[in-house]
Amino acid sequence: MKRIAVCPGSFDPITNGHLDIIERATPIFDEVIVAVLNNSSKKPLFSVAERMALITEVTEHLPNVRVDSFDGLLVDYAASVGATAIVRGLRAVSDFEYEMQVASINKKMNDQVETLFMMTNNQYSFLSSSIVKEAAKYGASVAGLVPPAIEEALREKYAQGELR
Ligand code: PNS
Repeated sequence: MKRIAVCPGSFDPITNGHLDIIERATPIFDEVIVAVLNNSSKKPLFSVAERMALITEVTEHLPNVRVDSFDGLLVDYAASVGATAIVRGLRAVSDFEYEMQVASINKKMNDQVETLFMMTNNQYSFLSSSIVKEAAKYGASVAGLVPPAIEEALREKYAQGELR
């Protein structure tokens, strides 16, 4: 049986912290699906299509990664693609409470899908898409926090006068 994992998230935009988790998941599974949440109630900086294109670009070196989007419940999406695991990164104790709640309800809804947590690499423990956007919006360098393609995409967005 093919071992498939889903790495879900908003990825607005993908950071080096996300990429580290995705890279570390690839030797464990036959296929890793990076799944972008299409959440119509949020106003993201990058559209779902833009986020998917950027993730595709920065995961090009990972042959068993594919990029997709989903809406609705994550466990339903995972089941629809034949995934048996959801992989999430844990940065700090502060992430734990929310992640445990979500993992518990997901398990209750579908006990065939396991949630696996990976500790975020120490160097990325402070990193989030929000903090990267905040820094980039005010012209600070985000080199080393996101891949170069994302730095460029952020520069372009904010050069267009984007305020998010
Ligand atoms: O990158 P994020 O924003 O922390 O990712 C959160 C995500 C997408 C994993 C989570 O919001 C999610 O799974 N949303 C889909 C709806 C769902 O299944 N919610 C949990 C059970 S109610």
